[in-house]
Amino acid sequence: MANLFIKQAKQYLGSRPNYPEELLQFIASKTPCHDLVWDVGTGSGQATVSLARIYKNVIATDTSAKQLELAPKLSNVQYKCTTPNMSMSELQQNVVAAESTVDLVTIAQAMHWFDLPSFYQQVKFVLKKPNGVIAAWCYKSPYVTKSVDSVFQRFYTVDSDPYWAPERKIVDDMYRTIEFPFEAVDGCDHNGPFEFKSERLIDLEGFFLYIKSWSAYQTAKENGVELLKDDVVEDFTNAWNEDGKYEKIITFPIYLRIGKVGNVN
Ligand SMILES: C[S@@+](CC[C@H](N)C(=O)[O-])C[C@H]1O[C@@H](n2cnc3c(N)ncnc32)[C@H](O)[C@@H]1O
Repeated sequence: MANLFIKQAKQYLGSRPNYPEELLQFIASKTPCHDLVWDVGTGSGQATVSLARIYKNVIATDTSAKQLELAPKLSNVQYKCTTPNMSMSELQQNVVAAESTVDLVTIAQAMHWFDLPSFYQQVKFVLKKPNGVIAAWCYKSPYVTKSVDSVFQRFYTVDSDPYWAPERKIVDDMYRTIEFPFEAVDGCDHNGPFEFKSERLIDLEGFFLYIKSWSAYQTAKENGVELLKDDVVEDFTNAWNEDGKYEKIITFPIYLRIGKVGNVN
């Protein structure tokens, strides 16, 4: 699985959403200090760039060296390539050496790929007690226009469906059912999902690039299946051109689970 994001790293960088300021500010308002973040499954730094503006230092890790190569280089960000099932000793050697030193752990559109029991053990180790925060979010299928969405819906639920890994289904459920053993942060009476949205202007080529960045697109290709067949491309093109607008706003609904570590023995 950790390999699913290697081959299409360029498509990924060119088409995936960045995250809105409201999301990052909401998260930052829940950590008392702004010293150190561990951004896990950083990809090509989609969340890291904004985090680096708010926190003094960011350690951004991913299992894909190819994704990390494309991430923006910033003076307060250290990118590190890790193994998919990193042990506690690898964590301490390669990522964060000392217990209770991290203010925030972020996981953007990636936590559904992790082995949660061992990952949560690491999160509980690194976070400052009791107010260190974990923030994990995912985004679902985007909205464009009624006509594009209707072609997309069929494409997503029928054509691409067999090629999504089972783990990815938790995203369709907006992370509601993902195990999340953390306390509500101050000012909240539950740990989510809280809803945000990311919007950007996109043309049809960019929209196809987004589809090509999917793990399911990659898996289908490896099985000899081109998901963007001529008739599918034609359906999308007709729907896209209906309103005569070359570029359109694409909206990704984002779902955030957020919690604090509390006092862990
Ligand atoms: C869908 S991408 C998300 C990238 C980026 N955070 C974003 O918001 O677009 C998922 C990322 O998680 C990485 N990944 C998958 N399993 C991982 C693991 N066990 N540890 C760290 N990263 C992992 C993949 O290589 C990929 O870059």
